[in-house]
Amino acid sequence: MSLRCLPRSALSVLSCRPARVVCHAANVRIVSRPLLSLPILPRPPAVLTSRFHSSQAAALHDVNRASGSAPLRTTIYFKIVDKVGSLDTVLSELRKLNVSLSRIESRPCRTKGFYDFFVDFGARDEAQIDNICEQLREVVLELQVVSSGSTDLVAMQTVPWFPRKKSDMDTFADKVMEYGEELDADHPGFKDPAYRERRAQITEIAKTYRYGSPLPHIEYTPQEIETWGIVYNQLTSLYKTHACREHRYVLPLLEHNCGYHPNNIPQLEDVSRFLKESTGWTLRPVMGLLSSRDFLNALAFRVFHSTQYIRHHSKPLYTPEPDVCHELLGHVPLYADPDFADFSQEIGLASLGASDEDIEKLATIYWFTVEFGLCRQGKEIKAYGAGLLSSFGELEYALSSKPQKVPFDPHKAANTTYPITEYQPLYFVAESFKDMKEQVREYALKYMRRPFVVRYNALTETVELLDTRDKVVRYANGIRGDLGRLVGAIEKLGA
Ligand SMILES: [Fe+2]
Repeated sequence: MSLRCLPRSALSVLSCRPARVVCHAANVRIVSRPLLSLPILPRPPAVLTSRFHSSQAAALHDVNRASGSAPLRTTIYFKIVDKVGSLDTVLSELRKLNVSLSRIESRPCRTKGFYDFFVDFGARDEAQIDNICEQLREVVLELQVVSSGSTDLVAMQTVPWFPRKKSDMDTFADKVMEYGEELDADHPGFKDPAYRERRAQITEIAKTYRYGSPLPHIEYTPQEIETWGIVYNQLTSLYKTHACREHRYVLPLLEHNCGYHPNNIPQLEDVSRFLKESTGWTLRPVMGLLSSRDFLNALAFRVFHSTQYIRHHSKPLYTPEPDVCHELLGHVPLYADPDFADFSQEIGLASLGASDEDIEKLATIYWFTVEFGLCRQGKEIKAYGAGLLSSFGELEYALSSKPQKVPFDPHKAANTTYPITEYQPLYFVAESFKDMKEQVREYALKYMRRPFVVRYNALTETVELLDTRDKVVRYANGIRGDLGRLVGAIEKLGA
């Protein structure tokens, strides 16, 4: 198979991947621009300058420490009418209540004519929080205490915003770095106005999607289905010998349950429902290139952002960006595997509130695993990375004797550079997805300087900060209950 390297200027466009994503067509490898070289988008849309400085935070922290009690770091959400003076009224009320804000952030409300705000402050106790809320309710339309807990206020000043619940992802749904309808001059569809219009149409559908809605149904054209069929037949012919056993196990299930077939492009809604029932993962349409942070943060909630458009029909075995072929054939089957699902979520959890430097390292780990990972199965090495499983050419190359293969080590992977215009010279080989999950968890605890620990509450589908004694005790009690049931089950089995 010949390798076609593109000039870097031609390698941008679009990706749902978090970083330096290489997108693979069947026998040709095309590379998208390294995303981490691009600036991370600020929190959308406007972050107002806080009038509360770190020195004040330190002073408040010291006062509370001197008095023997840490401040309750509190986040409040409120909605106001989008008009001059609305915010002043709220701020004036807060001044009267002697509240010092450590953060104030605005976002456009989904209802036109209103604005959402999030403010952070340190409170003496819960009674003070109640009083503040009671007074503010007089001047705002909606108000809610998002979180409150005894946390190191100074340390939290530098923690980037991150979603706490699935609907928070709506805030960055349309804050993409590049849009799906933007094509580079050398894109096969660049001079095809009908293709460009189609891309724009599908991108617009993704733009309007909000959490909780059914995933958009795309009526694919015969031409698009034909393109899918060519890719499908090419790739599936290699899976038997090259794909990991988990991928080989799930693909027939997807054919049976979700309409995977050379003559049919599956709908995200059907695939997402299947994943939800299998491992709790869901898909979410994406209109363009998300920042590494936003993309990885979504993994913490078992949400995978997926494109819905397909490559240009003139070159079915070539694409300069991820498309439905890459998502549905490369990524989706593995997200139905419980161990891989857990592993991917572990990367996402590690990314919540992480520094930019740590986000880059996590994105590199993602690159060497979710996109280009190999694993040992028995005496053989197989592919599980979506970049490989959607590339006819690199799939064969990766399992040949040409590239170097080393045992997976997250610390080593995070600090390994890689080329973006040619096949990888080095692949990391995992012993198992379970091992990888533990390794990434240990890596996050050992090497990342995040001042808190998070856990995912699968019942509420929210992320919880384990930052107060009460929360930790409640969490421990939950584990104790599960352990009791486990012991009971083992005893009943006579093990
Ligand atoms: Fe990918």
